[in-house]
Amino acid sequence: MFKVIDFIQTSRDRYLEELGRFLAIPSISALPQHAGDVRQCAGWLADEMRRIGLENVSVMETPGHPVVYGDWLHAEGAPTILFYGHYDVQPVDPVELWESPPFEATVRDGEIYARGAADDKGQVFMHLKAIEAWLSQEGRLPVNIRLLIEGEEEVGSAHLEEFVQTHRDLLQADVVVVSDSAMFDRGVPSICYSLRGLAYFQIDVRGTSTDLHSGSFGGAVVNPAMALVQILAQMKDRSGRVKIPGFYDDVRPLSDEERAAWRRLPFNEKQFQRSIGAPKLSGESGYTTLERLWARPTFEINGLLSGFTGEGAKTVIPATAMAKVSMRLVPDQDPDRIGDQFEAYVKKIAPKTVDVKVTRMHGGRPWITEYDNRFVQAAGRAIEQGFGKAPVYCREGGSIPVISTFQRELGLPAVLFGIGLPDENAHAPNERLDLGNFHNGIVASACLYDEIARAGR
Ligand code: BES
Ligand code: ZN
Repeated sequence: MFKVIDFIQTSRDRYLEELGRFLAIPSISALPQHAGDVRQCAGWLADEMRRIGLENVSVMETPGHPVVYGDWLHAEGAPTILFYGHYDVQPVDPVELWESPPFEATVRDGEIYARGAADDKGQVFMHLKAIEAWLSQEGRLPVNIRLLIEGEEEVGSAHLEEFVQTHRDLLQADVVVVSDSAMFDRGVPSICYSLRGLAYFQIDVRGTSTDLHSGSFGGAVVNPAMALVQILAQMKDRSGRVKIPGFYDDVRPLSDEERAAWRRLPFNEKQFQRSIGAPKLSGESGYTTLERLWARPTFEINGLLSGFTGEGAKTVIPATAMAKVSMRLVPDQDPDRIGDQFEAYVKKIAPKTVDVKVTRMHGGRPWITEYDNRFVQAAGRAIEQGFGKAPVYCREGGSIPVISTFQRELGLPAVLFGIGLPDENAHAPNERLDLGNFHNGIVASACLYDEIARAGR
């Protein structure tokens, strides 16, 4: 173990150079014109996995972007980790707001800037470097490990559930490890024990067969943009509660214990507000900001489109209007049931003067685990070794749909070992990763394998 840590400490410059190459591949899963880059990235990753000594490495096809698999299974009697991460990244627009090109990794002030630096290439790479250190210095790992790195996480992991169902043997393990989330705050390492789920929809409203002159026709037909915003305005009441009937039926209430624990976290509401540039925070009444983010479901409009939005003025009644909306879900809400409730409600409140179509996009279940399980405790000790501080336990508002799939389909507990920071601009311009956290994270990952080995099967 000493040799492993020493090797990590002396490899910092090389790590940066290699990570830069991984970050240079524009593996944007959402954009069809980047499908070739996504595939190239899978190939690059597979080569790197082979190079560090992983076995059975292969780029596996799915109906969408490929999955990269590799393993090392020679720690007889020791537990097996299923490591999950993603090599796909979000689009980069608005690209003019980037201070350096998104696919040219640039180091400034101790941070590496590039799309995917934090979400999730940097965090995947941290584990590859920890595995490399073990295999090159000790010739072995203390645990068995299988790596499953997908290329469709940022577009809803559409094909991964089926992949899991059809590759049960390949994914047989004792615990899932994921590094695709943020620490609670700078200098406050954390372990995340719950994620929200997601239900995503598109609403299309059609008023007439074509756009109309607003003078010749205005007053005699319903404006579909108006009909759409009237529908949307009925989704929430004044206290911030979602009005879809049945929406809160399965929401697991927050225990007094958890509420009290969260009040002890070093959360500065003013600073949070300032960091996002909001004039004032707002949300469901009766809940604190952390409770709203972690334990309450939401309804959001993600995008709206209708009519004339160019320069100048145009007197027109648009024929159609469209909205993308989504709900973050908490335990024990079910995305399919929420989908039924949402569709029924839209149908009920939609004016009869327009055609309304609801399309279900991706969804994911919320996830929660008991944090006194021994793998989570093992991860806590590893964080302490890497970061010199015991972690706090927190939830996250974001979603990683496959974690609940692993729980449901394979019966596996998961450890969320994330080392990003909340202000590292995941999904936004100027995404970055703190290099101190990256290096400490490699040490912590190397320790994690050892701690999980000690925790036993
Ligand atoms: N890394 C995030 C998930 C995340 C975000 C975890 C914030 C913890 C805190 C992941 O890459 C992501 O963005 N997931 C999507 C999933 C969706 C497309 C189904 C999300 O949460 O929007
Ligand atoms: Zn993401």
